This record gives sequence, C-alpha cells and structure tokens, in this order.
Amino acid sequence: MELIWLLAFCFSSVFCFQIGENDGGTAPRVPMNDGNSIPTLGLGTFLGFDESGQKEVKEKEVENQVTWALDAGYRLIDTASAYHTESQIGVAIKKSSIPRENIFLVTKLASHEQRNVVESLRQSLSRLNMTYVDLYLIHTPVTFKEDFSSFDDIDYLDTWKGMEEAQRLGLTKSIGISNFNIDQIKRLLENCNVKPAVLQVEVNLNLAQDKLLDFCKSNGIVVMAYTPLGSLFDSSGKPPPPRHDDTALVTIAEKYGKTTPQIVLRYLTQRGVIPIPKSVNKKRIEENINIFDFQLSAEDMEILAKFNADYRTVFPSFWQEHPYYPFEKKDVPDPDPFKGKPIG
Ligand SMILES: NC(=O)c1ccc[n+]([C@@H]2O[C@H](COP(=O)([O-])OP(=O)(O)OC[C@H]3O[C@@H](n4cnc5c(N)ncnc54)[C@H](OP(=O)(O)O)[C@@H]3O)[C@@H](O)[C@H]2O)c1
Repeated sequence: MELIWLLAFCFSSVFCFQIGENDGGTAPRVPMNDGNSIPTLGLGTFLGFDESGQKEVKEKEVENQVTWALDAGYRLIDTASAYHTESQIGVAIKKSSIPRENIFLVTKLASHEQRNVVESLRQSLSRLNMTYVDLYLIHTPVTFKEDFSSFDDIDYLDTWKGMEEAQRLGLTKSIGISNFNIDQIKRLLENCNVKPAVLQVEVNLNLAQDKLLDFCKSNGIVVMAYTPLGSLFDSSGKPPPPRHDDTALVTIAEKYGKTTPQIVLRYLTQRGVIPIPKSVNKKRIEENINIFDFQLSAEDMEILAKFNADYRTVFPSFWQEHPYYPFEKKDVPDPDPFKGKPIG
C-alpha cells in the first residue's frame, strides 16, 4: 500500500512539474510594480510597411504566427489596435490548449483613440474576443484627430486617468506607456494614482538607452524592447553596424553555439529588458526564444555594448511638431516613410 502511495506521489509530482513548466512557457517571469508578473521575452506582431503603406494582414498569417509561438513556448504576445492583428491573435489563443491565465496579452491604445480610453479598450477586447488583457499601453504621447487629419492636443495625464479607469473596471490587469521620454514619465509619476508598470521603447544594439533604462529601474518600471534586432537585417545600408554577419558578432555566436539574433536577444534580456522580436517564420520564431539555456560573459556583454550609436530605427519625424514629441529632434533629408502612419 505504501509503495502505491509513493508511486502515486512521484508520478503526480513529475506530472505537475511538467504541466507547470509547459504552462509557464520558456521565458521566466519577472515581477512588476503592481504585483503582477510578465514573461521576459515575447512575440511582436506588427507586420510593418511596404511600398503601398502598412502591410495588409493576410488571412491566417498572424493566427499561424501566434500558434507557432505558443507551441514554441512564448507566453507574451504584443499587439496594438493600430496593427490590425488583434482578431487573428484572439483566434489563435482560443484555439490553443494553453489556459488564458498563462498567456500575457498586451495591446495598445492608438494615437487617435485617446479621447475614449475605456471604449477603445472595449473595442480591442471585442476584436480579440477576450474579457481582459494583461497589459494596456498608451502607444504614444503624440495624439491625432480621429480621422488622422491633424494632430490632437490631448494631455497624456488625461489619457492616463482613462487607463486607470480601464484597470479599475478589470478590462486590463496592468497599465503602462510606450514611446515616452524621461521628462514625460517624471511628470506622469508626479500626477498619477497608479504608476505605469511598463514602458515599451526601442532598445537594441544600435540604441542602448542607458539613461532611460536606469531611470525606469530606479522607479520600478519594467522596460519592453521593441525592434530588438535593430539593424541586423537592414539592407538599405543606412543604419550603423552590426549586420547579422558582423565578424565580432559571429565570433561570439560561434562561441555559444547560437545564431547572431539569439546573441542580441540574450544580450537584451541580460540587460534586464524584455525583447519582443517579430517573425512570421516558424523556424525563426522558434530560434528567437531559444535563448534561455546560456549566459553571455561580462566580456562579451562589453563587446556588444560598444555597438551603441544612439541610432533610432523607428524615427517618426512627422511627429516632431507635436508638443509631446518624445524623441530627439533632427533635420530629415529623406521623405518620412512614417508620415500619417502608425509607428509600429
Ligand atoms: N510600441 C511601439 O511603438 C512599437 C514600435 C515598433 C515595434 N513594436 C513592437 O515590437 C515588435 C518587434 O519590432 P519590429 O518588428 O520593428 O523589429 P524586430 O522584431 O527587431 O525585427 C523584425 C524583422 O526581423 C526579421 N527576423 C526576426 N527574427 C529573425 C531571425 N531569427 N533571423 C532573421 N530574421 C529575423 C523579421 O522577418 P520575418 O518575419 O520574415 O522572420 C522582421 O523582418 C513589433 O512587431 C511590435 O509588436 C512596437
């Protein structure tokens, strides 16, 4: 009889451990300042632009992407009202066998939706076919009129009140911001009831964001890194190095038996930020999350840090005239590819 209990106990512990591990996904979670926790790597779902503007979302394209990602161990999915990917993400999550509470779903309030925060989130939830998201972000402090005809003049402090209300109503578990600078975050911290849990900004080898990261760390704000692969696969020749075949990067990658994108993603997680690489390719989706079985040495971290050029890949220069434009201003010689378009 005792033997049966012993066997049953061993079996249930192994079984529970496996269930727990599978449900938790591959990327460990870290705590946020509101008591919730967030996985340390996620999937980006903005499909980008082509010559005719924002790429059309093909049938099942994002559903497949998210299904492959969930199967590969991703538990954080990043979307936005502006991406037009919410409905396919909702389908993929509903079809998966992973309990909803084990998935961390992020969506964002678009720049033309800020007069109606709660209603905009309800519309996102309707497209997602969900009752809540895990994190709702103000996509940008820059606002547009509803028809995108011109800038709007909404103060992000007012928008934040709507975010707090959305959280109070249980429509989102956590609230945060994206594309805010240090001064804007300071002003928000001085005038809010609920602190932002997360800041989502561009961080990659070309754009280290040391000051912003230090500021967020000292204020208990988790940073998510968008466009984490930076210039690795750029073919325009414009951004600074490195490309994916850079000698220094390849040397490090060979040392750990990894690819250069994996080295970059691991570098970001060791800097304490949460990368959200986008891929619609099953093999690359699997590759990008396979970074939790090695540790970059301090020397290699230093070599990688030297690539910083304070170069911004996502530079919506058309926003520069808005009073809440968050980035450094500069003359733009080329026509702006982001004119009148969402930022990503
Ligand atoms: N908050 C914001 O304002 C904002 C702005 C920009 C982005 N984002 C979010 O951040 C996510 C990621 O940023 P991003 O899409 O700009 O850039 P990214 O994830 O750094 O790079 C995406 C590009 O890299 C390719 N790629 C991905 N993994 C690869 C690999 N292992 N090997 C080779 N190529 C690879 C993808 O092509 P394939 O798909 O063909 O693999 C795609 O062209 C977005 O999808 C979005 O969710 C947010």
